[in-house]
Amino acid sequence: MLKVEHLSVSFGGIQAVRDVTFSVPDGEIVTLIGANGAGKSTTLRTIIGIQKPKSGSVKFHDEELVGLPINEIVRRGITLVPEGRHVFPDMTVQENLKIGAYMRKDSLTDDLHWVYDLFPRLKERSWQAAGTLSGGEQQMLAVGRALMAKPKVIMMDEPSLGLAPLIVKGIFDIIKEINRQGVTVLLIEQNANMALRTAHMGYVLETGRITMSGPGKELLVNEEVKKAYLG
Ligand SMILES: Nc1ncnc2c1ncn2[C@@H]1O[C@H](COP(=O)(O)OP(=O)(O)O)[C@@H](O)[C@H]1O
Ligand SMILES: [Mg+2]
Repeated sequence: MLKVEHLSVSFGGIQAVRDVTFSVPDGEIVTLIGANGAGKSTTLRTIIGIQKPKSGSVKFHDEELVGLPINEIVRRGITLVPEGRHVFPDMTVQENLKIGAYMRKDSLTDDLHWVYDLFPRLKERSWQAAGTLSGGEQQMLAVGRALMAKPKVIMMDEPSLGLAPLIVKGIFDIIKEINRQGVTVLLIEQNANMALRTAHMGYVLETGRITMSGPGKELLVNEEVKKAYLG
């Protein structure tokens, strides 16, 4: 269980995250939805240790993560697929995947097979420069790279951003499959429709605060959520 409690994060005078509390049970998919600027990315970046909170705590299996360096948080089993993918364009697909395992010293062969089984497209293109992949393929690569760290929890920051509907569906199918194989998922999305359909639990973030929460399927039919996020 990943537990975020009373988390607040500020940038100068701007409070980006305000007293946010939620938890991600082992084996589940949890989503945080919200408009641009709601504080979604800041929440993920604080969990992984890129950003320091003003107050609050992040606990993973009851151990405090706040104050630990990023590499230690990754070593404990949490990984982040950042917004905008950020693959290394001049390196091959396979080189990009290997970078995802930089924290590990054991053999990578099984995990490369695992990732290539999940993403046959990446296997076909393993020697291709990552910068020449399509947007959807780069997103697959970013997810595959995060999986190479053998995470217990994978956090994804808007994996569907800028992708065509058919590709988005493929990405969400993969998210469900990764979860079915035992990886816990914390998913940040502006695409509330797909995210709430996919997640066990959803939380709505508005200007840094959680304003609603509930099972994904309940939020999907909630009138306020429909009006604000489902168009
Ligand atoms: N590094 C930063 N420096 C200053 N302000 C930031 C920084 N990162 C985010 N913010 C501000 O914090 C707020 C929340 O941003 P963010 O977490 O990126 O939102 P979201 O991911 O929901 O779009 C915004 O007002 C944004 O401008
Ligand atoms: Mg963001």
